[in-house]
Amino acid sequence: MSETFADPPFAGTSFAEKAAALDTADELGKLRELFTLDDTVYLDGNSLGALPRHVPARLQEVVTREWGELRIRSWDESGWWTAPERIGDRIAPLVGAAAGQIVVGDSTSVNVFKAVVAASRLAADGRDEILVDATTFPTDGYIAESAARMTGHRIVPVAPADVPAALGPRTAVVLLNHVDFRTGRLHDLPGLTAAVHAAGGLAVWDLCHSAGALPVGLDEHGVDLAIGCTYKYLNGGPGSPAYLYVAERHQAAFDSPLPGWTSHADPFAMTLGYAPAEGSVRGRVGTPDILSMLALEASLDVWDGVDVSAVRAKSLALTDFFLECVAAYVPEGRLTSVTPAAHAERGSQVALRCEDAEPVMRALIERGVVGDLRRPDVLRFGFTPLYVGFADAERAARILADVLAERVQA
Ligand SMILES: Cc1ncc(COP(=O)(O)O)c(C=O)c1O
Repeated sequence: MSETFADPPFAGTSFAEKAAALDTADELGKLRELFTLDDTVYLDGNSLGALPRHVPARLQEVVTREWGELRIRSWDESGWWTAPERIGDRIAPLVGAAAGQIVVGDSTSVNVFKAVVAASRLAADGRDEILVDATTFPTDGYIAESAARMTGHRIVPVAPADVPAALGPRTAVVLLNHVDFRTGRLHDLPGLTAAVHAAGGLAVWDLCHSAGALPVGLDEHGVDLAIGCTYKYLNGGPGSPAYLYVAERHQAAFDSPLPGWTSHADPFAMTLGYAPAEGSVRGRVGTPDILSMLALEASLDVWDGVDVSAVRAKSLALTDFFLECVAAYVPEGRLTSVTPAAHAERGSQVALRCEDAEPVMRALIERGVVGDLRRPDVLRFGFTPLYVGFADAERAARILADVLAERVQA
């Protein structure tokens, strides 16, 4: 266990000194000022992103002026009606999509349902298998299973690395997570999407743990459909609405399983027969949840002028540095990282297996280091590059080491 660096340019300096140097050189460091934070080390932005400072004032205006004074007029005059597509177009560059393909609304779970059913309807006749990430966040699996029962498909659970071998002439749809919520493993979206297409299937990606943390490249890699939440790295607020991406080439044939009135070509005609709107609007269902939606819209201002590849570079540097500090401060064998060391396989979180994870995380939170726990034994630390710095990473590792040492002594 050494608390100084052996290698240049930081030879002989402590981890705290290296952290200070890295923070000084960090061009994204100034963005932290845009958020409401305190001296807690907040490493749970992969569950709930921090509050951008300007959002309360914007929400106050929405409530008092747009709702309180303009009332019904705001659907038109305040742009409420078109908010789902407008905000979708704000998210689009963050996930590598051209405008007109993303619509915001409903929860991720509901969008998983829309995407899986719609993808199975887009798939060629005779294909009856839906492959689902066997390590998936549970909601995706539950919903895909129900969607399969409704549409006469068969669910095939497959670990992402085994997907190429499981593909075949029966594959209709493959539903995968870009980053594993538990381990932080980043899956090969370009390679797996290409493999799914080569087998004649459609690829649906869940971007909850990647959007806002790393480049996704939806258009570049030819993804068919995608969904994601906005309350993690996009900082939209608790329960902020999710989004649905339908690649432009699929929009005309996109057949929503939830064809609500707001996705109708002429919603105010109030006709009994359903005629779908063109474009991303087709993914809408009912009345949008305007307060949450406009909080999300305001929160996206923090991305103005931010390059996602710079965010990715900082995210990797942060997680590397945190792992280095943990390796230096914590006796060997006490913790095991379940997050891949290879950059190409790592998202923006570090997950450490720890026998007594539950009391350890409780003690960390009491000392102002907020991560979270995935039962039974995984400590999760999310690194949001817009507001987490290198000194935060060093402090978290140091306090973690202290907590572990005290548990041994006790
Ligand atoms: C990968 C993934 N998918 C889906 C969800 C659930 O989405 P929601 O609760 O917004 O429906 C989460 C929530 O954390 C998630 O991490």
